[in-house]
Amino acid sequence: MMRVLGIETSCDETAVAIVDDQGRILAQRVLSQLKDHIPYGGVVPEIAARAHLDHLDGFVQECLDEACDGSWQSIDAIAATAGPGLIGGVMVGLMTAKALCLGLNKPLIAVNHLEAHALTARLTDKISFPYLLLLVSGAHCQILIVKGVGHYQLLGQTMDDAIGEAFDKVGRMMGLGYPGGPALEKLLPLATDSEFAQTIHLPQPLLGRKNCDFSFSGLKTAVRQIIGDRVLNEAEKATLSLRFHEVIAACLTDRLKNALALPETKNCTHLVVAGGVAANRYLGHHLQHFCAARGLTCIMPPLSLCTDNAVMIAWAGIEYMRQPDFQGADLDIAARPRWPLASLNSGEKHA
Ligand code: KG4
Ligand code: ZN
Repeated sequence: MMRVLGIETSCDETAVAIVDDQGRILAQRVLSQLKDHIPYGGVVPEIAARAHLDHLDGFVQECLDEACDGSWQSIDAIAATAGPGLIGGVMVGLMTAKALCLGLNKPLIAVNHLEAHALTARLTDKISFPYLLLLVSGAHCQILIVKGVGHYQLLGQTMDDAIGEAFDKVGRMMGLGYPGGPALEKLLPLATDSEFAQTIHLPQPLLGRKNCDFSFSGLKTAVRQIIGDRVLNEAEKATLSLRFHEVIAACLTDRLKNALALPETKNCTHLVVAGGVAANRYLGHHLQHFCAARGLTCIMPPLSLCTDNAVMIAWAGIEYMRQPDFQGADLDIAARPRWPLASLNSGEKHA
């Protein structure tokens, strides 16, 4: 039996969890700092880092008490996000993990945050490699093949804005505040087929192209032009939101279609949707439908495991510990603001 304590501090969630090799979540804490950042319209790195510092130690102790009666003896390793993310926050989590590993003489697992999102479906649904991954978050929009632990093939990605970023910017244009994604989704039931609806013509970015790349900046500009200097009422905002959702859904499914046409994806029987935008039910519904029509199983982790959390970090730790050549990271490993998933293949040692 292996147990790993995981720490996540790469953005605005301070999170700690203890998970075992059966995928059981023995304890977890997540603090969303969202309300601290709302007045600024986005995450303020310095505020985030300080908040992590305030809460992390307490969460570690609480999880340990809950899962193991406060005994470190039953913890086999400590996993922490080492990137990519806001560097001040990543440093707080990684330094805490390093100090614990040094003091307790336990291995450190320096987890790539994106890899943790990618592997969550193996905890929730016990699926095997390879599978197709659609990673849609505030910072990413990518299609990859997950071939194994530390083994990814990037098929395509956004050339400009990330998908969550596009949601956030459009939300801001409509005065919906931060984060825009959930606010835009909430409006959907209010959409109507009004006169205003007839005037909305949004471009379908890159539709019909043969690759798996995305682009959202033209779409965002088109929304800005439609709004112009008018003040939209609730129904108009909702209608525009629906059109925006429709275009995003069309982009995602069009590019996934291209991905599935590639010989490399022939053995993928599952599509995993990961990252904060996977919380969107409208997009989820479209993706489910898309997969069902192609005999593909669509996996969307439960909401609490889609958004940032430490269960996925601890689980990634378990996955690494199961590798035959597992060694643990050097304690001088650096926190990384950027750390593309596909770079893990090149043997850049991180665990
Ligand atoms: O993965 P995540 O929690 O943080 C990182 O970017 O790593 O993703 C946050 C992003 C934000 O841009 C937010 O607007 C978006 O996910 N998001 C959503 C929804 N919930 C969160 N976008 C669309 N619909 C949602 N329901
Ligand atoms: Zn994330």
